[in-house]
Amino acid sequence: MPKPKVFVSRQIFPDSIEKIISETDVDVWSSELPPARDVMLKKVSGVSGILCLLTDKIDADLMDAAGPQLKVISQIAVGFENIDISEATRRGIAVGYTPDALTQTTADATFALMMAAARRISEAERAVRAGKWKTWHPLHYLGQDIYGSKLGIMGLGRIGVEVGKRAKGFDMEVVYNDITRREDLESLHSFAFVDQDTLLSESDFVTLHTTLNKDTYHLIGEQEFIKMKPNAILVNAARGPVVDPKALYNALKNKQIAAAALDVTEPEPIDVDDPLLTLDNCIIVPHIASASVDTRREMSRIAAQNLLNGLRGEKLAACVNPEVYQD
Ligand code: DGY
Repeated sequence: MPKPKVFVSRQIFPDSIEKIISETDVDVWSSELPPARDVMLKKVSGVSGILCLLTDKIDADLMDAAGPQLKVISQIAVGFENIDISEATRRGIAVGYTPDALTQTTADATFALMMAAARRISEAERAVRAGKWKTWHPLHYLGQDIYGSKLGIMGLGRIGVEVGKRAKGFDMEVVYNDITRREDLESLHSFAFVDQDTLLSESDFVTLHTTLNKDTYHLIGEQEFIKMKPNAILVNAARGPVVDPKALYNALKNKQIAAAALDVTEPEPIDVDDPLLTLDNCIIVPHIASASVDTRREMSRIAAQNLLNGLRGEKLAACVNPEVYQD
């Protein structure tokens, strides 16, 4: 029997690629940058499985280009807004993702961003490199305390919970807002549910952990910045478009809020001429919150496993659309 054809849209950990090679006829895209759309449409022709990334648009046209034998789409990420899930479900194509694997690593990174912004670490480090460290001065690089302050979590999913638990280790008061109230987590971790306006107006740190959808697009914009405290620090390790970048620029420039730390931007990658990059009170890193060796290895393993399970007609360990298994 010929091995099923699959397309893997970027290099992942070699041991996971080896596993895929052992069971499939695989084509791995080896460039650093994503395949162009027309190339991707050709590459998927005749495949039974695709292992893809957030940067690949997986829509009906791409599924058509693959053909009716396409059985599984395996995303190496917890988010999957680049995939048309209802279209995949309609066609009976299972979609895999990699939740849990990156929760702790992303929570660590969120905390790192929060602390770096509060203590002006990037700005101070840039000053040292530029030869601006002339003396110790009682009034230089004054930031704000994390310890004892108030954290507002918008979106109390897996990552939001873990950020909140870390905050408790810093004696922070933790409030959250979500479409679903989680009383179980409130009592377990001493988190308090508040409405969005209260969260914005009372928190010293606001951290975003919502998924991106039509309700969360530009969730934080001009009106929200008006409500926030002048010492507030905004952290976004969710999705760039949850924050309106123009409103953020104005809020930071006009000192309506103190600082922001972004793992994600709109668009990605951010343009090198983007005005946000001119601001000392804005930290931007290139979507690296899940980028630890162990976590990316585990994400590779799960994505490869999901792909192979789907090809064998077995249930995916982590499936976005389990309804494809119902008759
Ligand atoms: C995800 O998994 O959705 C992240 O954004 C990348 O790890």
